[in-house]
Amino acid sequence: MTMIYKAGMAEEVQKDQAERLRLIMRNKDETDEQKRRQPRIITISSGKGGVGKTCIAINLAIAFAEERKRVVVMDADLGLANVNVILGIIPKFNLYHVIKKQKRIRDIIVDTQYGIQIIAGASGFSQLANLSDDDRSNFVNELKNLGYADIILIDTGAGVSQNVLTFLKAADEAVIVTTPEPTAITDAYGIIKSISAEINGPNIKLVVNRVRSVMEGKKVAERVINIAGQFLNLKVDNLGFIYEDSVVPRAVIKQDPFIVSAPKSKASESIRHLMSRLLNIEYSEEGGFGRFLKSIFGGRV
Ligand SMILES: Nc1ncnc2c1ncn2[C@@H]1O[C@H](COP(=O)(O)OP(=O)(O)OP(=O)(O)O)[C@@H](O)[C@H]1O
Ligand SMILES: [Mg+2]
Repeated sequence: MTMIYKAGMAEEVQKDQAERLRLIMRNKDETDEQKRRQPRIITISSGKGGVGKTCIAINLAIAFAEERKRVVVMDADLGLANVNVILGIIPKFNLYHVIKKQKRIRDIIVDTQYGIQIIAGASGFSQLANLSDDDRSNFVNELKNLGYADIILIDTGAGVSQNVLTFLKAADEAVIVTTPEPTAITDAYGIIKSISAEINGPNIKLVVNRVRSVMEGKKVAERVINIAGQFLNLKVDNLGFIYEDSVVPRAVIKQDPFIVSAPKSKASESIRHLMSRLLNIEYSEEGGFGRFLKSIFGGRV
């Protein structure tokens, strides 16, 4: 009798343990799922203005979309919005309405004909450029909760304000854009220095825009990376470069992204190489110029 009772107990205990294990596994799956559902946040920043951040953000986003990634581009340049201008779109609502608490971020996201979504900036409201700490953390939390998106590209605007630092801190990767101009290089170093002061800062990747030769791209990148290593003890990755290309200003005037209007141009091929490095995928292109770039960059990081 006792034996039977004990056997029954043992069975109960076993069932209990199995149930507990199932619960642990389910919870683990849920946290993995939650983690997986958080979009990858990549900021595009620079020290100096006008170096090509917005052009890069938009065209890089479209390159990601070509690889079937769900991408949202956010114009966080609260002083001077231009993501929607470059795309020729005038959304009804923008970040102004979010800051004024009239809308949530997810309510102002709009689809575009290019397979990417955008969050338009609060153009002309530079007096709002410095948000409160609460507003800033709400912003970041809302972005992190856009679970359906694979990648969120944030065009932060130039320089380092408190707002820019908030987005940089929340990012998985910070892409810093410079051109070969000495002032742009010095300012790129300046913004890298500001990021280096942050604990748990993002992974920093450098892009040299508007280069005229491979040598120029390499030299500029090496200079910035060496100085950051030497004076800040910071590792900056070389993501690559983008050629100076007349299709870029032409596309801005036509309000049509160059990766769409001139897919085989030097600038477009350069962007696709940056994309493939960020996704860590092999980029195969038919064209001769693409193959040339590949021989410089290599297929993988
Ligand atoms: N690879 C390139 N080749 C030729 N021109 C370029 C290239 N990249 C950018 N430009 C030119 O630089 C201009 C500024 O680019 P963009 O608006 O993307 O810079 P930005 O860094 O976003 O500027 P801001 O700091 O004002 O937001 C473009 O309108 C274009 O004419
Ligand atoms: Mg811009």
